[in-house]
Amino acid sequence: MNGFSKYYQKDQATRLEILKQQKKLTKAELEILKDPQLNFELGDTMIENYLTQYQLPEGLALNYVIDGKEYLIPMVTEEPSVIAAASHGASIVKRSGGFKSELKERLMIGQIVVEQVKDAKKLARLVKDSQAELLQLANAAHPSIVKRGGGAREIKVRILAFDLVSIDLVVDVKEAMGANMLNTMLEACADHLRSKFEAEILISILSNYATRCLVKVTCAIPVSELTKKNMPGEKIAQKIASASRLAKLDPYRATTHNKGIMNGIDAVVIASGNDWRAIEAGAHAYAARNGSYQGLSTWEVKDSKLIGSLELPLPLATVGGSIAIVPLVKVNQRLLDLQDAKELEKIVAAVGLGQNLAALHALVTDGIQKGHMKLQLKSLAIAVGARPEEVAAVVDGLLARQARDSATATQILEEIRGIKREEK
Ligand code: MEV
Repeated sequence: MNGFSKYYQKDQATRLEILKQQKKLTKAELEILKDPQLNFELGDTMIENYLTQYQLPEGLALNYVIDGKEYLIPMVTEEPSVIAAASHGASIVKRSGGFKSELKERLMIGQIVVEQVKDAKKLARLVKDSQAELLQLANAAHPSIVKRGGGAREIKVRILAFDLVSIDLVVDVKEAMGANMLNTMLEACADHLRSKFEAEILISILSNYATRCLVKVTCAIPVSELTKKNMPGEKIAQKIASASRLAKLDPYRATTHNKGIMNGIDAVVIASGNDWRAIEAGAHAYAARNGSYQGLSTWEVKDSKLIGSLELPLPLATVGGSIAIVPLVKVNQRLLDLQDAKELEKIVAAVGLGQNLAALHALVTDGIQKGHMKLQLKSLAIAVGARPEEVAAVVDGLLARQARDSATATQILEEIRGIKREEK
């Protein structure tokens, strides 16, 4: 994509102008990017006791080529270096042909849990025999999804204990995340089970463990692309594979490994107006699917290539919830150039893998601090009160010293401003 080289060095007006050219943004869309304020009425319809807006910065990740299409990806995060790292990881993959995605199905699961069951096997049989009737009831409770080509598809029964049974409804929710849809369908089915089988219903609710909405992304990088001045690419690839193995074996490392993946995933999920708590919960449950908590990504070396893959549940929507309400989300969808929810899901997964690659590449070579340092020092300069035009000088001053804490930053700022300290 043209115009994005050294994007970080350009001022806001130039950055917006480049976006305008590339994405044919309208004047109204540019205005929203410049000033994305929610008005009081909008805020008040979204949550209760609305007061104000909490601010998080939004930036663009670059270099993402997925299934042959290049994307600009809006990310919302407070953590310095997340976007730089995501773009860096993607640039290595871009040079190697980009990410490939696989997405088999996009179905959501909801559960009706029956308790005090006298004969669990018998209940399972009765529910299976009533499958057609239950699916019909579910669809009748939400007819609009059937009109859009979706609807309830399957009923599964899981016996959780001798007296506890989960009746799972599997639904094609089309472009939505489906929480409201599922919950309405589940409650309709639960009423039926109550009256027909005298079932004692415990809960009826969507599951955020979206195992029928899995997305997989892969990449294959010639090891030479990983080379750093102080280490050959082959050795770096072997170390990234070892770090991946470590994250499969040790939950202490797996948690941090996955946190890094979620740095990227959450930032795009938030920018797209989706429910990031749902995505977090599902991702971590999936990471523990083999009985111990493990790293979500896998890196291996094969035929002089570093092969990466990441699979996780990603039920993301392009309609519904806050997506229709928040003007900036609509602009972000335009920046992403989305056709549908599946495309959003593969983008988010690719950012997770790109983010993970950048983190591991740094960790097994120079360590994480080197890359982070400048951005962290920038935050420190701002935290001690440096004005935008003073930040670079404070950062340079800090880089030249051993101590890089707030007292030193304050002292440098005072020196720049020519303020003399009182001797104590
Ligand atoms: C920091 O936010 C994320 C990392 O710790 C991830 C990792 O260790 O893989 C750098």
